[in-house]
Amino acid sequence: MMREPGVNVAGHTAATAYPFISGPDLGAFGPPVGTNLDGGGTFCVDPWELYRANLISGMSMLLFGTVGTGKSTLAKCWCTRLVQFGKKLAVASDLKGEWTEVVQQLGGVVIQIGTGLPTRLNPLEEGVRPSVDSMGNQLTDEGWSQMVRTRRMSIMETVIKILTGQEELTSDEHTALDDAIDRATTRAESEKRTPTVVDISWALTEGRDDTITDEELARASRSLAKTIRRLHSGDLGGMFDGESTVTFDPSLPAVSIDTSSMRSSTQKARRVASACCGTWIEAMVTNPDAGQRVVVYEEGWDSVTNRADLQRMVENWKLARDYGIFNILIMHKVTDLNMAGDSGSQMAAMAQSLLADADIKVIYRQDPAALRATTSQLELNDKERAQLPLLQKGTGLWRIGQKTFRIRNTRTTPEAELFDTDQKLRTTKSVDEVSMIEDEHGQLITDWAA
Ligand SMILES: Nc1ncnc2c1ncn2[C@@H]1O[C@H](COP(=O)(O)OP(=O)(O)OP(=O)(O)O)[C@@H](O)[C@H]1O
Ligand SMILES: [Mg+2]
Repeated sequence: MMREPGVNVAGHTAATAYPFISGPDLGAFGPPVGTNLDGGGTFCVDPWELYRANLISGMSMLLFGTVGTGKSTLAKCWCTRLVQFGKKLAVASDLKGEWTEVVQQLGGVVIQIGTGLPTRLNPLEEGVRPSVDSMGNQLTDEGWSQMVRTRRMSIMETVIKILTGQEELTSDEHTALDDAIDRATTRAESEKRTPTVVDISWALTEGRDDTITDEELARASRSLAKTIRRLHSGDLGGMFDGESTVTFDPSLPAVSIDTSSMRSSTQKARRVASACCGTWIEAMVTNPDAGQRVVVYEEGWDSVTNRADLQRMVENWKLARDYGIFNILIMHKVTDLNMAGDSGSQMAAMAQSLLADADIKVIYRQDPAALRATTSQLELNDKERAQLPLLQKGTGLWRIGQKTFRIRNTRTTPEAELFDTDQKLRTTKSVDEVSMIEDEHGQLITDWAA
């Protein structure tokens, strides 16, 4: 019998010899994202499948692109389809309010937070108790109270650092805060309720242990109390200073926190709000019992310019895989990560760790000024670099592990209507209001033009 011996050639030789053969395929299952422009057909991605197939090891994605290149549209499109594939969705802080309709259409709830609005979220809330710890062992009462305490300390530190602009708390401030959290918790628990920032203010002032006469510690407590007061009597009052007025239902497919009414607030206030909303969402979703969930951070560039939030995010991302979470952080350019600190600083190292942990990186059109940094940080080759300034709206390079795919995100007409953020083109119809017409085959279809 004759056998075809075949030829052994390197990939680039094969590509030259057979120029019309399609590019690499991901070979994985999941909801469609769009079209692979280098061949390979429809591009489907399910991060949990990629993880199972050993194509990624971290469960986070960074999405870069200049203003208006279609980043949010891609996130909405993909997340909606992931929900249809049985995953859940959480949008940590939606400053433009652009996810509201999407989440409602998915049958989820939208929590509206802002000055003068009646809803309150308690960033010190315990959250949903998972049955296992991050190692997969049964979570003990002790382990759970440690988890809650760490989270409370972390969000209070974050808020204080944002409000004061300081890099680190002094050791006296740290001690005072640590003690105040314990006292606030004891007080609240004796009244069978959850501690709030008002309890912490109390614990730092009239509720202080007056047997401690250390003057430095007393000064630190007073100064912390003054800072925290902004949360209950300043411009942030009424949002995060009491028990939550909403409960989180882990069985719902989607949830978002709409902070659009804070668009005109100061940058500090917005950052505090986004940290508090992020913590609240994370406390609710860090729970493998509730299934797989995507958590979207819009305006990620704002979070990583601030050390405290960045630290919180790095820590949380490390836990993502163990808790069934996949994170998406949306930013403008890779160098936004460098704004977190001078090169060589601890901040820069943390930003780098965020970049390294994100095993999926999607790059939309970049300004010429950002090309060099993007190319080197994301290890792109010359051909990919040349494509960056030319990418059309809705088209991006997907870096998954060491492979790169050029993908055009495709939307259906109803999706385009729903996701469109261009206010001029926007219709305000909900699905219940649109009229139905007959198409040429007599089938009833939605009349989006009406
Ligand atoms: N795949 C696509 N095909 C055609 N048009 C698109 C596509 N994706 C986005 N657009 C259009 O581009 C505009 C901007 O999209 P989008 O808001 O998603 O961009 P963005 O990158 O999130 O912007 P920003 O930086 O302001 O947050 C919208 O009007 C949207 O309809
Ligand atoms: Mg956007």
